[in-house]
Amino acid sequence: MIEQRLFRDALGQFATGVTIITAAPEGYAPFGVTANSFASVSLDPPLVLWSLQKSSDTFTAFEKSSYFAVNILNQQQQDLSNQYAKKGSHDLDDNHFTDGQTGLPLINNAIVSFECEIDACHDGGDHIIMVGKVVAMSGFKVHSPLLFHAGKYRALASLDV
Ligand SMILES: Cc1cc2nc3c(=O)[nH]c(=O)nc-3n(C[C@H](O)[C@H](O)[C@H](O)COP(=O)(O)O)c2cc1C
Repeated sequence: MIEQRLFRDALGQFATGVTIITAAPEGYAPFGVTANSFASVSLDPPLVLWSLQKSSDTFTAFEKSSYFAVNILNQQQQDLSNQYAKKGSHDLDDNHFTDGQTGLPLINNAIVSFECEIDACHDGGDHIIMVGKVVAMSGFKVHSPLLFHAGKYRALASLDV
């Protein structure tokens, strides 16, 4: 049996980018949740995934949604990451998003936003794994990403070769 705190700390050694996953199903205001469980899955068809804690306040709203958008944050978007990682703080501020091609709310100035149609949901223990088919991509620019490692935000550094 692995001690849970130690397991968490060990997993935290895997450095990731940071995203805000957004959605706006019928009957809900546009909302977002900070997530670093994002991963690319397939190029053809274009598939990505992320996982959501089943205990999240946003769980029911995501269950009602057939779409989600992945917004990859840049290095200057730490405040946004913190804001949408707070419990009870998932409704998007009007000045933080613009509607995308499918009507999904997309985070302004993100490095890139992927609008996805939910392709499959898999049980993942205390999380649900959502696989999305990318139906639109917008805002793509090369920019320094916001990184997360061992519970802290980090910035990219180049290694001398
Ligand atoms: C950098 C970072 C990454 C996170 N990644 C995830 C994630 O992949 N999946 C998830 O369900 N929650 C993730 N969270 C937690 C949520 O953003 C949020 O804190 C949590 O959902 C709050 O509880 P609530 O959803 O019940 O309001 C992350 C938080 C931070 C700060």
